[in-house]
Amino acid sequence: MTILLLALTNIAMLAALALILHKVRRLHIAMFEVSDKLNDIHHESRELYGQIQAYVDLVRLLRIETPLPRLRGWAASPDFLLLVAKHALRSKPNTIFECSSGASTVVLARCAQLNGVGHVYSLEHDPHFADITRQSLADAGVAEWATVIDAPLTPEPALGGQLWYATSAIPNIEDIDMLVIDGPPESTAPLARFPALPALAPRFAARCDIFADDADRPAERAMIERWKQDDGEALDIEAAFIPAEKGCAHLVVRRRDTA
Ligand SMILES: C[S@@+](CC[C@H](N)C(=O)[O-])C[C@H]1O[C@@H](n2cnc3c(N)ncnc32)[C@H](O)[C@@H]1O
Repeated sequence: MTILLLALTNIAMLAALALILHKVRRLHIAMFEVSDKLNDIHHESRELYGQIQAYVDLVRLLRIETPLPRLRGWAASPDFLLLVAKHALRSKPNTIFECSSGASTVVLARCAQLNGVGHVYSLEHDPHFADITRQSLADAGVAEWATVIDAPLTPEPALGGQLWYATSAIPNIEDIDMLVIDGPPESTAPLARFPALPALAPRFAARCDIFADDADRPAERAMIERWKQDDGEALDIEAAFIPAEKGCAHLVVRRRDTA
């Protein structure tokens, strides 16, 4: 009887010990989770501060009174737009071309207005957002400096059948000296933005500065590598990756026939 009681006590003690160990292990895991979350919060608050600072710098640089469309999320982030605006104000491009309209179109149009030279042509696949961008341009008083082009996504035989903005919608524009790429959406194709270079290079000026948003994504990195390797366009391409929330690639493209 005593032995049985002793055995039962030992079993109970072992069960209690196992329960305690289980709880300690869960506590240990929870501590790591809390620590990871704190790191995320710390990273996000630093990122947020960087974006707020870039936004304030952008608004001051543009000397714009009207609110800009919402940035980040679907739109370009303030740090990317600041890089683009600084380049546009410094280089005073004549023909600015853009793949995907929105807040960036307003920023570029305001740069052209401040420069007193240049025009923005922005391809937009979604007629609803094309109208919203046109309204944003009007609200900001820069409508005459930009044209939003309705260009539905279409399989282009000249681009290997890949979906891209309907090239037939692009007006007869020559000498593009600045190109900003932020579309089409990545869900369109594995290298959704790749066609921008083959489709537009024949219209480039002797030098064209390209700014590609989302350059930290593997697809955008692969796109730039393929552009650099593809000799078919007779272009010299220098690419620099600039740290930004979603990554920014700045490419200087020179046509060899004019170099
Ligand atoms: C990656 S977003 C970039 C838009 C633009 N380059 C910018 O920085 O604002 C690409 C697409 O978002 C869509 N878009 C434009 N305005 C939008 C809005 N207000 N809300 C949600 N999507 C929008 C458009 O179809 C656009 O082509």
